[in-house]
Amino acid sequence: MNVVPRDLMTEIPVSSADFRVAMRHLTGGVSVITAGRGRDITGMTVTSVTSLSVEPPTLLVSINRDASSFPLIKRHGAFGVNILNADQLDVAERFAGKGGLKGADRFAGAQWVTSVSGVPLLVGALSAFDCEVEEIVERHSHGIVIGRVSDVKNSTRNAALAYWHGQYVAVDQDEDAARLADVSVPSRGRRGI
Ligand SMILES: Cc1cc2nc3c(=O)[nH]c(=O)nc-3n(C[C@H](O)[C@H](O)[C@H](O)COP(=O)(O)O)c2cc1C
Repeated sequence: MNVVPRDLMTEIPVSSADFRVAMRHLTGGVSVITAGRGRDITGMTVTSVTSLSVEPPTLLVSINRDASSFPLIKRHGAFGVNILNADQLDVAERFAGKGGLKGADRFAGAQWVTSVSGVPLLVGALSAFDCEVEEIVERHSHGIVIGRVSDVKNSTRNAALAYWHGQYVAVDQDEDAARLADVSVPSRGRRGI
């Protein structure tokens, strides 16, 4: 593999506009992060949740250090991750700040249970994780929060909420499976299962 010389790479700066355009191509599953205790709670919509390891079960999420959730996650050392189902668009919008709601007011209109670590978990989410903070790597504008999963609740729903090209998209395994099969590209040298 050819390695691009370091000085050549730095001579071509990547504009934030180009970077944003590129990242719009990346389809992301939509989750809501929750943080805090009692009335001192908040949360935010994210697409940056990803699995880190299965053994032990850990995940990571990239959170803007100016977001209201960030100091609460740091202070309490715990957070919830709620993978939204396709019907929970209103929850996604509230936790992204639409309507100007803040803190505990964002939780109105949906049902929540308190996890063992004390953070709210969303009833009806595809999956909800209770996480203890293992490490936070603060880099540039964001903190990479690594969470050790201490509990997980799975639902049997199959319709997910995704975000692609600046809009929410519903992906329903039952309804869309046939359509996806029609448009799927067969991999070379291998027959489908
Ligand atoms: C679909 C979507 C995905 C988002 N993903 C992230 C993310 O991964 N990390 C992040 O810091 N903010 C993300 N945001 C922005 C936050 O949801 C938004 O800034 C939130 O209002 C921050 O909370 P605050 O108002 O309590 O500070 C995303 C927003 C949307 C609409």
